[in-house]
Amino acid sequence: MAISLDGRLAPAAGGPAQLGGKGDRRVLEEALAWADGCLIGAQTLRLHGNTCLIRAPDLLQQRHSQGRAAQPVAIVASRSGQLPPELPFFAQPLERWLLQPQPGSAGAPGFSRCLPWHDWEQALAGLGGHGLRRLVVLGGAQLAAGLLQADCIDTMQLTLCPRLLAGAHSWVPSETRLPLGQVGWQLEHQQHLGDGEVLLRYGRAAL
Ligand SMILES: NC(=O)c1ccc[n+]([C@@H]2O[C@H](COP(=O)([O-])OP(=O)(O)OC[C@H]3O[C@@H](n4cnc5c(N)ncnc54)[C@H](OP(=O)(O)O)[C@@H]3O)[C@@H](O)[C@H]2O)c1
Repeated sequence: MAISLDGRLAPAAGGPAQLGGKGDRRVLEEALAWADGCLIGAQTLRLHGNTCLIRAPDLLQQRHSQGRAAQPVAIVASRSGQLPPELPFFAQPLERWLLQPQPGSAGAPGFSRCLPWHDWEQALAGLGGHGLRRLVVLGGAQLAAGLLQADCIDTMQLTLCPRLLAGAHSWVPSETRLPLGQVGWQLEHQQHLGDGEVLLRYGRAAL
C-alpha cells in the first residue's frame, strides 16, 4: 500500500486515493507479477471502479515465460455482494473471484468463482487449495485490518509518500485489535523510488 508520512491511505475527505507516483506504480506491478492472486476490499473497488493491472512489458513477458496468466486473479472480499455490474472492473482482462461469508448457490455475476469466507485462516487455505498461494493485499484499510487481526500477514510492503493527510483514514484503523503476543517486524528491503517516495518491506521478525 501507498501511505502518507502520517500513515494514512486516503485523504481526510475519503474517496478514491491516488497517493503513489511512478516509482510506486512500478513496485506495485512487480508485486502483482510475483502474485498468484490479489485481494481487494469491495469498498476500494466501488470507489476506484477498477483494479491495477500489470502493464510493464518486461513483467508481462516474465509471467508469460513462467507459463502464468498475464494478471494475477483478482479476489474481491465483500459481505454485501454489492458490486455494480457496470464497474469497469468487470471488463478488465483478468480472472475475478469473490470471497463472501455466504456465497449464493447461483454464484455472482461477473465472477468465475465464489468462495466462502468464515475466517481468514479458512479463506486463505481455500484459496491455497485452488492454487493461489502467493497473495498480495491491495487494500483498503478494513481488509488490511481484518488480515492483521487474524495474524495472516507475512510481509508488509509500504510505499511512504512525502505527504501529510491527517484525517481518519489510517491504513490500520484505530479500532483494529491486534493479536496478543504478535512478534515484531524486521526490515527486509528499502528502496528510493524517486520523487521522495521510499519503499519499505518488513517481514516477521524471527522468534
Ligand atoms: N493508498 C493505497 O495504497 C490504497 C490501497 C487500497 C485502497 N485505498 C483506499 O482505501 C479506501 C477504502 O478502504 P476501506 O477501508 O474503506 O474499504 P476496503 O477495505 O477497501 O473494503 C471494505 C469492504 O470489504 C469487504 N470486506 C472486508 N472484510 C471482509 C471480510 N472479512 N469478508 C468479506 N468481505 C469483507 C466489505 O465489503 P461490503 O461492504 O461489500 O460488504 C467491506 O465493506 C479508499 O479511499 C481507497 O482509495 C488506498
